[in-house]
Amino acid sequence: MNEQQRKEMGSIQQPEQDKTAKDKPLKEKTTEDFAKYFETTYQPPSLKSAKKRGKEDVSVHYDFEIPEDLKGLGNGKKFLIRTYGCQMNEHDTEVMAGILTDMGYESTSDQKEADIILLNTCAIRENAENKVFGEIGHLKSLKREKPDLLLGVCGCMSQEESVVNRILQKHQFIDLIFGTHNIHRLPYLVKEALFGKEMVVEVWSKEGDIVENLPRERKGNIKAWVNIMYGCDKFCTYCIVPYTRGKERSRLPEDIIQEVRQLAAQGYKEVTLLGQNVNAYGKDFEDMTYGLGDLMNEIHKIDIPRVRFTTSHPRDFDDRLIEVLAQGGNLLDHIHLPVQSGSSDVLKIMARKYTRERYLELVDKIRTAMPNATLTTDIIVGFPNETEEQFQETLTLVEEVGFEGAYTFIYSPREGTPAAKMQDNVPMEVKKERLQRLNAVINHQSAQAMKKYEDEIVHVLVEGESKNNPDVLAGHTDKNKLVNFRGPKSIIGQIVPVRVTKAKTWSLDGEMIEAVEVK
Ligand code: SAH
Ligand code: SF4
Ligand code: F3S
Repeated sequence: MNEQQRKEMGSIQQPEQDKTAKDKPLKEKTTEDFAKYFETTYQPPSLKSAKKRGKEDVSVHYDFEIPEDLKGLGNGKKFLIRTYGCQMNEHDTEVMAGILTDMGYESTSDQKEADIILLNTCAIRENAENKVFGEIGHLKSLKREKPDLLLGVCGCMSQEESVVNRILQKHQFIDLIFGTHNIHRLPYLVKEALFGKEMVVEVWSKEGDIVENLPRERKGNIKAWVNIMYGCDKFCTYCIVPYTRGKERSRLPEDIIQEVRQLAAQGYKEVTLLGQNVNAYGKDFEDMTYGLGDLMNEIHKIDIPRVRFTTSHPRDFDDRLIEVLAQGGNLLDHIHLPVQSGSSDVLKIMARKYTRERYLELVDKIRTAMPNATLTTDIIVGFPNETEEQFQETLTLVEEVGFEGAYTFIYSPREGTPAAKMQDNVPMEVKKERLQRLNAVINHQSAQAMKKYEDEIVHVLVEGESKNNPDVLAGHTDKNKLVNFRGPKSIIGQIVPVRVTKAKTWSLDGEMIEAVEVK
């Protein structure tokens, strides 16, 4: 299918069938009723079917619309969405907030005031899931006090069969569960949950479509997220994302460019292009000749001061992208390039599809084209059977590349992924100790990198008051370093020069030079 044919004007996909049984309200069912219900009517989400990658075409829909009768459904009512996941998850929250706002709901941060609370969940590690189940437990008493409160669970956890079953069986006070592919169905789902007596469950395991014109209620008016693609086809053996987010599908360049142009016109200063594997952008287009480099090249020409992108996968990071990024301008030279491990053997069983050497070659190429580039990364320690030597290879790689920051994690087995079936002989204490040793190296490198900025002038996009002190302003440099300094509130939203007075491990203190905007 070519790009033109992708722009299908047909109507947005509707549910294949009613996925909730109708014989007796779910909330009144006994354990036997449940057993029968599961055997007969209920269609759970399935990681197995989510895994299949068919050759179905990707259709792009431009006809999202909230029916008139659902538009006033939230009048006089308030919503609260808690977000547990990555940037993509955060951005989904902005879309859901947009939909609820268009339905008449108002946002609140006070859960006592809320008429609808949604938990936008993350399934990446076990502790992310535990947090959500903890919160579900807390919400039970709130629901008891306020029976009309509508409670919903969405995001990546709702794509997992085990999670949906656990909620159906143990947390029947939840009113609504919907998946990452069902966000555009929110108006209908809310209506069903409000007026039906049953728990509403709608989770599509597979999705190949893109819905373009969803409303968005963005958090703030300085920095914005822009999806460039959805899903992931990489299937790293430890990772749940390809199952919870479906297959890789790219938005059309013109839709992305139009969104970035609009954001620029609205005065946004920074956009972050989002995808789980942004370097695979365009690989699902029929002719496969347009990639992330080409897209960035066009965005480079748009009058918006800062453009970032995340997350890169080393395997698909190509020369064209490096050449485009080397032009600089609004394309910033901070690259987040998750490596996961410094051992080629571990990388192999992670199915990352590159070796230590290939990764280092890529870093070399980036540094040659962009001598000032800074690199940050993601690392997993304690992958099944990781040896001390293999872990040390991670430490030496971290030093060799000179990462200035890293998100580091202890491996967490995810049900349904290949790695979860691997036997593991590394005790948890050893994993914890490795994480500490790795963090010590990362902290040291971050602090060293920060030190270099002392007495230098950096350009800071002022984002608002510092979290810890309302008298202090906070913002980030083009290399994404957090800077705290005193200045008038009137410069919030501007990029200003700041002299760095003191370097800390993860942030810089500074003083404003003058309240003039730089570009
Ligand atoms: N798409 C991105 C990152 C997605 S998840 C990429 O490919 O890099 C963010 C990070 O979570 C990953 O980079 C990885 O370091 C970590 N992660 C993913 N699955 C994990 C698991 N099962 N256990 C521990 N960390 C995990
Ligand atoms: Fe997960 Fe790998 Fe896809 Fe990243 S590239 S989302 S780690 S499967
Ligand atoms: Fe979590 Fe889903 Fe993002 S699993 S990291 S919220 S894609």
